[in-house]
Amino acid sequence: MCGIVGYIGKKQAAPVLIEGLYKLEYRGYDSVGIAVSDGEELRIVKRIGRVKEIECARRERGTVGIGHTRWATNGGVSVENAHPHSYKNIVLVHNGIIENAEKLKYDLLAKGEKFYSETDSEVIAHLIADAYSGDLLGAVMRACSQLTGSYALAVFSTDEPRMLVCARMHSPLIVGKAKEGLVVASDIPAVAEKDARLYTLNDGEFAKLEGDELLFFSAAGRRIGKDTIEFDLNEGCVEWNGRHFMRKEIDEIPKVLQASRLEIENDSCFSDFYKVLCQTEYIQIVACGTAYHSGLCLKSAMERICRVPTEVCIASEYRYSDPIVAKGTLLIAISQSGETADTIAAVRLAKKRGAYVAAVVNVRYSSLTRLADVVLYTQAGREVAVAATKSFNAQLIALYSIAETVASVKGVKAPSLTGLARKAAETIAISETVRSWTPYFVGAKSAYFIGRGADMCAALEGSLKLKEISYLPSEGYAAGELKHGTLALIEPYTPVVAIITRRDIAQKTMNAVREAYSRGAVIFLVTCFKEFCDEKEVTASVLIPKCPPDYSPILSVIPLQLLAYYTSVARGNDPDKPRNLAKSVTVE
Ligand code: G6P
Repeated sequence: MCGIVGYIGKKQAAPVLIEGLYKLEYRGYDSVGIAVSDGEELRIVKRIGRVKEIECARRERGTVGIGHTRWATNGGVSVENAHPHSYKNIVLVHNGIIENAEKLKYDLLAKGEKFYSETDSEVIAHLIADAYSGDLLGAVMRACSQLTGSYALAVFSTDEPRMLVCARMHSPLIVGKAKEGLVVASDIPAVAEKDARLYTLNDGEFAKLEGDELLFFSAAGRRIGKDTIEFDLNEGCVEWNGRHFMRKEIDEIPKVLQASRLEIENDSCFSDFYKVLCQTEYIQIVACGTAYHSGLCLKSAMERICRVPTEVCIASEYRYSDPIVAKGTLLIAISQSGETADTIAAVRLAKKRGAYVAAVVNVRYSSLTRLADVVLYTQAGREVAVAATKSFNAQLIALYSIAETVASVKGVKAPSLTGLARKAAETIAISETVRSWTPYFVGAKSAYFIGRGADMCAALEGSLKLKEISYLPSEGYAAGELKHGTLALIEPYTPVVAIITRRDIAQKTMNAVREAYSRGAVIFLVTCFKEFCDEKEVTASVLIPKCPPDYSPILSVIPLQLLAYYTSVARGNDPDKPRNLAKSVTVE
């Protein structure tokens, strides 16, 4: 979503804001802007595009300022809709969606106020300006009491240019004291520095940053204390001179799998998690996007190995489906960022209905980690590319470890998870051949990924990767279901990728391959069985190392990630920052 940053202190604000925005760019990159004040004059610079477009603003003078990188929700991508927004003496940046903005705007228009953008954020600037009578904190509190929806705000007034006020409701916000000033941002890396003291705001809370004083207030306006959060300075270090982060992050998969296994063996949190899991009779999983596909992989493994009924729900559906949360339900929320609004809302609902919530999350201190009863951290490290790769593999090894442990408690023999890091390294080396497949995909109208069981889960993820970054319409499908509709879309030269890693149903998937081939499809195969690579229907194949079929997506997804990457590059796209998408989706 959008990223916000703010600074007040001794240094010039503009360079601090711009550096912070670079680290928040994963949250959106439609447009960007900063506002700085030197106490006399307010300067606002806004541009369409990425943070580099406002490099020219580095020289703007002023020791207080706010900045924003936007992922458009309300209002198209335009300079007018870019943040910061200002009205009268109020300047603000906002991340979130105000659901009653239309009604509020209608009332403000009736009072004769003029608007310059289509955004809900500008409405907040009006509300604060109207409530302002020399007390910025009070005005922000009064304005926020009229809002429904989600917001993280950083606001200053040209009347009180030595002060920043922040507010949070369902959108993340970090506030802190750095060496030479006070800082605010949507995420830790944007403001992390040695010896900084950082705090998270909770929903309904406010912060006032003035001089070198940082004060926190509850929703009721009472002063509150806060504990600092711990952070790893290296987490923000994502400098890299290579071509694309996505390619680098795929290469990191073996290291991530290794680190994950070590963490699982040593982390006491895992044993708490396991204790709960072992008593559970029923599991619900909520997640979005790639994390949803991880959930499907766990369902397949959990049910086949442990015979524990497991339901997987898309979080945005779960939250409005009036879900049945039976007594003793364990809800597992899977999320790389820990900030996905739909997943958080699903968790809130499940908790209200009595579920015990375990979160499988990559980012520390994220909102989901504070909501869950128990947190299991994945070990992907910071993932920069918007399309998830190594975080998917990290989720899988954590989730399969859970299945392995439940199996051991139930006295069932689970396949071993050892050796996967080495096999992932072998898979990456072999999968480089998918680069030669790209000519078949670059000019295609659409592409299809098919498989059965766990292979279908990998197919869904492979298809999502391809559409996310190459913009090629693509579907992941259950191989047996192809003949019930999607086969109608197969034309000569349509690329179809089949995944086959389970011996007992391999021939069944090959039936679908033959059906597609007979209609002119070009067949690409990802398999661990050599004999299928030699079938006459198969144009090209990747022979991945053998691993237990219930865990196979951890390897079989790798050639699919690489295929998406190379197709994206060949189509002239930026695979790290696909159009219209953001890495952390903190709005509905
Ligand atoms: C966004 C990202 C996806 C991600 C999904 C869920 O759409 O672009 O890559 O899978 O959100 O994110 P989460 O952080 O909850 O895993």
